[in-house]
Order: sequence, then structure tokens, then C-alpha cells
Amino acid sequence: MAHGVGETLVLFLLAVYFSKGMSIRHHHESNDNESTSSSFIDGRFCLSWRLGVETNNVLLWRTVPTQCLQYVEDYLIHGQYDRDLELIMEQALSYVDAIPLVADGMDGWILDVDDTCLSNIYYYKSKKYGCDPYDPLAFRAWAMKGGCTALPPVLTLFNKLIDKGFKVFLLTGRDEGTLGQVTIDNLHNQGFTGYERLMMRTMVYKGKSAATYKSDIRKQLEDEGYRIWGNVGDQWSDLQGNSSGNRTFKIPNPMYFVP
Ligand SMILES: *[C@@H]1O[C@H](CO)[C@@H](O)[C@H](O)[C@H]1NC(C)=O
Ligand SMILES: *[C@@H]1O[C@H](CO)[C@@H](O)[C@H](O)[C@H]1NC(C)=O
Ligand SMILES: *[C@@H]1O[C@H](CO)[C@@H](O)[C@H](O)[C@H]1NC(C)=O
Ligand SMILES: [Mg+2]
Repeated sequence: MAHGVGETLVLFLLAVYFSKGMSIRHHHESNDNESTSSSFIDGRFCLSWRLGVETNNVLLWRTVPTQCLQYVEDYLIHGQYDRDLELIMEQALSYVDAIPLVADGMDGWILDVDDTCLSNIYYYKSKKYGCDPYDPLAFRAWAMKGGCTALPPVLTLFNKLIDKGFKVFLLTGRDEGTLGQVTIDNLHNQGFTGYERLMMRTMVYKGKSAATYKSDIRKQLEDEGYRIWGNVGDQWSDLQGNSSGNRTFKIPNPMYFVP
């Protein structure tokens, strides 16, 4: 018995349907292990967690969730952090190119120091990338060595700002009394030279939040007549508050939160 054209087409489509269905099912089966394995689930959770941290939706967190140790390490040392940093600094560089400089010596820019100009990733490696709680004594001992390395894309921005005639202010929560000289030395040995001022935490700001301390200092700069065109930091508390600057640039930091 002969099939009509219509029946042949139906059979053909059914055959296609089943073969596709089978291959799709096979595809799903072969992915089952991956999609139910704990590292895959952790990876999806940790990506959401990091996004929450970077968008300032997750606040006042004290440690990185322990299941994210591997994720955060991968993020920081296997290239994605560097790519993110590159992209953000490219945005800052294009913004700098578009600024109509007044060139009266009052065009200012603010950069944070720790994990903005200088990297502490090497130190945080010993603290499980932030899965261990903040350890002020150990951090100070690390900072006292003056061995932090520059974050290259930030150094590129820094040099461009200096070349274009900006007054660059380095504003850090590091304590001036204990870490003043070593911070100056570390900045210089990493190529950060030619900035206008390094502004560090003094007794006056003891106990004040980073946002309050930094807002206060920025306000003082504006009162001196500086225009704060840009502000770069790895913490939201570097960028929030008053006199934040005409544009802010948030550098990723999934290792710690400074209120
Ligand atoms: C899935 O995992 C089980 C046990 O861990 C293993 O025996 C099996 O070969 C895995 N299947 C695939 C498709 O990877
Ligand atoms: C911003 O300025 C207002 C008014 O001077 C002040 O009350 C507030 O505390 C400041 N905010 C911060 C974070 O310093
Ligand atoms: C920069 O910010 C100041 C104060 O917020 C504002 O008056 C000024 O118009 C801004 N300039 C540009 C070019 O956005
Ligand atoms: Mg910082």
C-alpha cells in the first residue's frame, strides 16, 4: 500500500521529532551529573552572592561563605577579576578623555589605596580569600612589609590623570601613625608618584565609619575649591555619602566589606 505525500511528510516529521527528542534527552542525561553536583550548585550560588555584594544589595557581611572559597579564588586569580578591572578602568579612561578640564589646578580626582591602587590578594590568600574573619593585627603586619603590588589598570589610570594635569588625592582608611611611611614607600615602589596628597586616617576620625570619614575629607577638598571629577574605590563606603565626585567607579572586591 502506497503512502500519500501528506502521510510521508507526517512520518518524516515524527521521525525527526523522536530523533531530536532522544538526542535532547541524552543531552540532558549527560548533563545531569554536572547540574546536580555540589560544585555546580555552589558556583551558581556564589555568582549570585558576588553580584549581590558588588551591587551593594548584600551588606555588612563579615566573611565570604565557606562554599565560595573555590569560586572566589577562581574569580580572583584565573583572569575574570583582571578582565573586570580592565573594563571598569577603560570606562574611567574614556570619561577622563571627555572631561573639559578647567586647568586652573583645581581639577581633582580621588583614588582609594587598598585593593584599588595596591593589591592585597596575596595576603588574603592566607585568609582563605576572606572566608576567615578580618584579622586587624595580621593585616597590619602585612601592610608594614610594604610589599603590596600595583593593580596595573589602576596605575594606568593614575598615570593618565597625572599626565592630563589632574590633582590626584589618595584617600585611605589606613592609620597615619602606624602605616604612614610604609604606605608612602609602597606606593612609590609600585609607581604611584606625582600625586597631590596621601590622606590617611588620623585620631580625629577614630571610630568613624569609612563613609563618614571619607565624605568629610572630600568635603574639605571641595571647600578648598577642588572639583572632584572622579572617585575610584573597591568599597561602596569609598563612594557613598557626600561630595562623592561627578562619577564614581566601583572596583570589584569579593573578599571583605568595609562599612
Ligand atoms: C555520573 O556520576 C556517577 C557517579 O558519580 C558516575 O558513575 C557516572 O559515570 C556519571 N555519569 C556521567 C554521564 O558523567
Ligand atoms: C552628609 O552631609 C550631611 C549634612 O552635612 C550630614 O548630616 C551627613 O552625616 C553626611 N553624610 C556622611 C556619610 O558623612
Ligand atoms: C559635576 O558635579 C557638580 C556638583 O555635583 C555639578 O555642579 C557639575 O555641573 C558637574 N559637572 C559636570 C560636567 O557634570
Ligand atoms: Mg580599598
